[in-house]
Amino acid sequence: MKNAHRLVLFAAVVVIMIMLANFYGRVMGAQSPDGRAIFVVNCAVCHQPNGQGGGPYPPLAGNPDVNAVDSANVIATVLNGRTGPITVNGTQYGGNMPSWRGQLSNAQIAAVLTYVRTAWGNSGPAVSEDQVAAARSPEALSGAALFAAKCAVCHQALGQGSDAFPPLAGNPVVTASDPSAMIAVIVNGRSGPLTVNGKAFNAQMPTWKGTLTNADIASVATYVRSAWGNNASPVTEQQVAAAGAPVSVSVGASIFAKNCAACHGANGQGGIGPALAGNPHVNINNPGNMLATIIRGRNLMPSWRGQLAASDIASVATFIRSSWGNNVPAVSVEDVTAIKQ
Ligand code: HEC
Ligand code: HEC
Ligand code: HEC
Repeated sequence: MKNAHRLVLFAAVVVIMIMLANFYGRVMGAQSPDGRAIFVVNCAVCHQPNGQGGGPYPPLAGNPDVNAVDSANVIATVLNGRTGPITVNGTQYGGNMPSWRGQLSNAQIAAVLTYVRTAWGNSGPAVSEDQVAAARSPEALSGAALFAAKCAVCHQALGQGSDAFPPLAGNPVVTASDPSAMIAVIVNGRSGPLTVNGKAFNAQMPTWKGTLTNADIASVATYVRSAWGNNASPVTEQQVAAAGAPVSVSVGASIFAKNCAACHGANGQGGIGPALAGNPHVNINNPGNMLATIIRGRNLMPSWRGQLAASDIASVATFIRSSWGNNVPAVSVEDVTAIKQ
């Protein structure tokens, strides 16, 4: 009898605790993210507050892709970014949509897409956090699919290479127990000469940093190390993040093409933003003011704080400072981190 009483009391206490936790959860702001607020902060600079777009930025209002019943396409665009050309309602656009994979959580991406799909007369179905989570997992962008899409053109479908491009199957750099040398080549690119199993190669491996996310590079590297009879350990996203030269002009060039050229011109000649070629604010030895603009943003210039890693900002600044006739010293990661946020 005593035991039964205790049990009932215990159960009642547990029920009351759960009710209190629920109540506080609701009161203390455990509510889902505000899609409209996320849009205003992160997206409106390009797509405009009314979703009408403009310049290189496509409209999201009245856009059939945005209103599509199947949300896979828009989720992939926001997660991974997208580089033109794209045609919306008969007009062609060719800019760069940044990747939000590292900046926004699954819940935030679901909320902002649900907002975009229901604002300004749009009427697409809501996007759930689960849908974004499924699209984000590395399995969704399989290493095999990435290899076929990005690498097979040179290294061939079975990794066997050709006269011009080295084999990845049976390649000792690829199957080494420490993957860091191989990761560095994929991240930063590489120029010949190179000898693989006694055969000489002398061509250019592109830089993939700035084009593929760290998660994608980990997927494709894991695939390459385990396909065609290769039998080496998987590669993690952390290993990719740690790989490669912290400041690299070729990485800077690809970051510029992806994130900056839409406004500053592919050759730094200017556009929505000022010319960076021959720009007196760029061509001074002290990079402080230029870095402050990139990190904090100014007027129509977006802030890249939280969007690009310090090493990426140093790389893109170094690229700008040594391109199109500009000729001032490189920028270090320390120069970037010295800028007060
Ligand atoms: C720096 C400018 C920029 C920012 C910021 C930006 N976008 Fe984009 N967005 C673009 C560009 C440019 C394209 C078209 C890319 C192309 O041509 O392939 C695009 C395309 C899209 C598309 C695909 C449209 C279609 O027809 O398939 C969606 C959806 C989208 N953006 C949503 C967003 C959301 C949501 C945010 C904020 C989280 C955002 N964008 C922030 C520039 C931007
Ligand atoms: C445009 C052609 C091209 C594409 C596309 C390409 N590669 Fe390469 N890759 C090369 C060349 C050329 C080399 C050798 C560079 C040299 O001679 O130094 C190379 C070298 C490599 C190496 C180093 C091999 C060694 O023995 O050190 C790896 C690993 C590699 N590529 C992986 C990839 C992956 C993964 C992709 C896709 C994400 C890819 N490559 C896409 C041309 C390409
Ligand atoms: C949405 C368009 C846009 C994008 C994208 C953009 N910028 Fe800008 N940028 C501008 C505008 C506009 C200004 C001028 C800001 C002002 O002072 O009003 C500017 C200014 C600058 C300046 C300062 C130039 C000076 O004369 O003081 C630098 C440096 C710069 N941007 C670098 C970059 C880099 C690097 C990137 C990519 C990581 C980038 N910008 C992306 C629009 C853009």
